[in-house]
Amino acid sequence: MKVLVIGSSGMLGSSIASLDIDGIQFINSGRNGSEDKTVGTWSIDISVEKEVVRRIEEISPDYVINSAAYTDVDGCEKNPERAHLSNAIGPKNIAKACQITRSKMIQISTDYVFDGKRGSYTENDEENPIQEYGKSKLQGEIFARDILGNDLCILRTSVVFKRRAHNFITWIKNSLELGKEVSIVDDQWICPTSTKYISETVVEIMNLGLDGILNVSSSSRMSRFEVAVAVARELGLDQGLIRPIKMGDLRWSADRPMDSSLICTKLGRFRKLSTFGEMLNSEFEN
Ligand SMILES: NC(=O)c1ccc[n+]([C@@H]2O[C@H](COP(=O)([O-])OP(=O)(O)OC[C@H]3O[C@@H](n4cnc5c(N)ncnc54)[C@H](OP(=O)(O)O)[C@@H]3O)[C@@H](O)[C@H]2O)c1
Repeated sequence: MKVLVIGSSGMLGSSIASLDIDGIQFINSGRNGSEDKTVGTWSIDISVEKEVVRRIEEISPDYVINSAAYTDVDGCEKNPERAHLSNAIGPKNIAKACQITRSKMIQISTDYVFDGKRGSYTENDEENPIQEYGKSKLQGEIFARDILGNDLCILRTSVVFKRRAHNFITWIKNSLELGKEVSIVDDQWICPTSTKYISETVVEIMNLGLDGILNVSSSSRMSRFEVAVAVARELGLDQGLIRPIKMGDLRWSADRPMDSSLICTKLGRFRKLSTFGEMLNSEFEN
């Protein structure tokens, strides 16, 4: 099976593209890739329809995984045109190309499609994004679904982390290791998820040929403050450096959902769910 990973220079895309699975050939692509087929990474800017179609026709993959996105939540608020191009038009262009090559698509999406007023969202809950990032990501889902129907799987996840990348978990770890105090909100609930767990699930989705929406996160609904305390506890760092604050204390440009936790009952039908602690230990062991 030939699988094109779009956004393979990003945190999640690089984890997916570096999987070593018998019978699957992963092909990397990034915005700053190469024009030369013999070099590892192809160049694709997903906001440019002609480029996306030409490349996907040339590669003719069985699956396209779109992990590319403009993920800076405050950046999206300040620059909604850029958010729309990467997060809505990008998936639309990829879906158009997949329709031509009869490839299946996995669109990586986010818990930020929800307003966070209730939490514990299932795949059937109604979306209501409250900031440009979530709005553009939801629009991308809708565009791709309208074009590909059952040839699309939308994977929604929450607060992604891996050991060798900049993210919420490594920021806490690095700060505590340096003896720095960190102020963390205790009134925002999430389900932090490792790239390893998501990448393995992507392979399962392809093997099983799943379509529709699938929530993929840790089974732990935690406040960001609780996550920070768990990181300190599990990694033997000083919990005393973690100070609770409220979302209202932070000067974010974009609103954040208060509780965007996901329920993964559908996922639990074909793979064992993991807690945040299990994912953290698996990521940081050795
Ligand atoms: N990180 C999280 O906590 C989180 C939570 C929930 C869902 N997600 C979703 O998970 C996916 C992966 O997130 P991530 O954290 O791995 O993101 P990331 O590290 O920010 O990587 C995103 C990648 O997308 C590329 N990209 C952006 N616009 C592009 C364009 N127009 N054409 C081609 N490439 C483009 C970026 O390339 P450049 O560097 O060249 O811009 C970057 O390599 C995204 O769909 C995101 O919405 C992430």
